[in-house]
Amino acid sequence: PSPSGPPGTGTDFAAVAPNKEDAIVIPDGYDQSVVIRWGDPLFADAPAFDFEKQSAAAQAKQFGYNNDFAALLPIEGQANAFLLVVNHEYTTGPHMFRGYDKEAPTDEQIAITQAAHGLTVVEVRGEPGTGKLTPAFGKYNRRITATTEFKLTGPAAGSDLVKTAADPTGTKVLGTIANCAGGVTPWGTVLSGEENFNGYFANADKVAETVATARIKRYGFTAGKTPNHWERTDKRFDLAQEPNEANRFGYVVEVDPWDPTSTPIKHTAMGRLKHEGATIYVTKSGDVVSYTGDDEKFDYMYKFVSTRKVQSGSGASSMRHNLTILDAGTLYVAKLTGDHADKIDGTGAKPSEQGFTGTGQWIPLLETGADGKGKSLVDGMSAEEVAVFTRLAADKVGATKMDRPEDFEANPYTGKVYVALTNNDNRGKDGKQGPDEANPRNLNKNGQILEIDDDHTGTEFTWSLLLVCGDPNAADTYFAGFDKSKVSPISCPDNLAFDPYGNLWISTDGNAMKSNDGLFSVVLDGANRGATKQFLTVPRGAETCGPVVTESRVLVCVQHPGEADDATPDNPLSHWPDGGTAQPRPSVAVVWKKNGGRIGA
Ligand code: FEO
Ligand code: CA
Ligand code: CA
Ligand code: CA
Repeated sequence: PSPSGPPGTGTDFAAVAPNKEDAIVIPDGYDQSVVIRWGDPLFADAPAFDFEKQSAAAQAKQFGYNNDFAALLPIEGQANAFLLVVNHEYTTGPHMFRGYDKEAPTDEQIAITQAAHGLTVVEVRGEPGTGKLTPAFGKYNRRITATTEFKLTGPAAGSDLVKTAADPTGTKVLGTIANCAGGVTPWGTVLSGEENFNGYFANADKVAETVATARIKRYGFTAGKTPNHWERTDKRFDLAQEPNEANRFGYVVEVDPWDPTSTPIKHTAMGRLKHEGATIYVTKSGDVVSYTGDDEKFDYMYKFVSTRKVQSGSGASSMRHNLTILDAGTLYVAKLTGDHADKIDGTGAKPSEQGFTGTGQWIPLLETGADGKGKSLVDGMSAEEVAVFTRLAADKVGATKMDRPEDFEANPYTGKVYVALTNNDNRGKDGKQGPDEANPRNLNKNGQILEIDDDHTGTEFTWSLLLVCGDPNAADTYFAGFDKSKVSPISCPDNLAFDPYGNLWISTDGNAMKSNDGLFSVVLDGANRGATKQFLTVPRGAETCGPVVTESRVLVCVQHPGEADDATPDNPLSHWPDGGTAQPRPSVAVVWKKNGGRIGA
């Protein structure tokens, strides 16, 4: 395909200035509405949200907390009807409950937070003449929570590393947690990354065995209680009582939103790490490649090349086949080499005339055959170990330590792959590893965007930095050579999306420049390559997530509005979206052009 317009089509709007408003701020000529909020009912028999009177039974039938990834899938044969699929990444008791006791939440509060995790599938309907979307009690509506049954597949499934007292088969896992970004597959399912799962498991100090200690340390499990206290009511979250339960989280999960009774899958062939998400690219010859980042300071970028191709057709047998695509293939980790190593001297970024460029290699770690059996390609580790302790395998092969790899997205027109490297304020700090050409700054507070020209199924690639983010007036920022006096300041890129014209859209999380987070468009091709413009900002304390940019709509997830260490229901930082004195509620919002028409025209 090729974009139906010259480079930059779809980015003609007046940039929104940095601000601290408790609102979604959008360009002149646009309108907005909230699609769905934390607690909104998803089923006819679900109670309306009542902040003062919550229950786990209600939450299990309502929209979850802290929406992150969003997918908007058109329902075939129904005009203006979509499935909205959303991740609910995490919960924070102090913001969810009045009078919350951080040391001793009630059993019901613990159950509510478990029910507020996972994913939501909800039908939404548009109306002619506006971009507004309204939820419906549709037949596809579904909540997946921290207790929903999943099937574990791939080389680790059934191995001793994932067997527990409650599941001696090592194949049935209850729940998904810490679901951050994700992707839509060409076969109609949704992928979701289990990211900061380590924070849900208590008492890492009580796991004695030496080899286990190294594993536990590399995945960041810590001593004592967790902030959520789930271990108090559910022993599987206590490493001292059930050391293998944690080996069943940290995967790419796949949900078939078209069948509300389907059992979602955790794919161990794609490795266990803090998956930011997973996104799919299909090559011209039909090969399926999935890219995924491990979001941690100094962690790695991965890809999975499947040996299976997509079976077309909407029947159940096609879906059965397609749900195994991510269970057979090779998992690789990336190693990058800069072209101008001599210009990176340990003190920080020095964009040369040529920008930041280099070559790279995908190093194979694990091969999974059509029979589901794994073959380790890493010395001293079994296939099961590589699948479950993927970070340790990648350490052994000398992969490149990146500045927190978040979302990946492939340009549907050029096939080039983009990666958000959100920040790494530890680079070069206190004797830690210093800069390299792909991660060119010490104490990197603002992040960068990497562009990869990949031979998708092969092992070689070239790369360059598209953006080195931050204040355009600062010498250490770079916007692909574009005039820096004409760009918006951008900090901490997290999620990526493409619009129908081949422009990259970037949402941010943790703006280090003291303004609210936002959503930006970036032109990739033509004379305006690098032109970066802020399309919206989200309310106070929120990060911008899950962008979906279509011809006529921009959908964003507003995650954790009002989140601040000292914010509580009695001292809220934000009252969005309900206003007045209301509590902030994580919500999905939609923006459209007032007179209709396409975004950015
Ligand atoms: Fe949940 Fe990497 O952001
Ligand atoms: Ca993220
Ligand atoms: Ca994305
Ligand atoms: Ca983030």
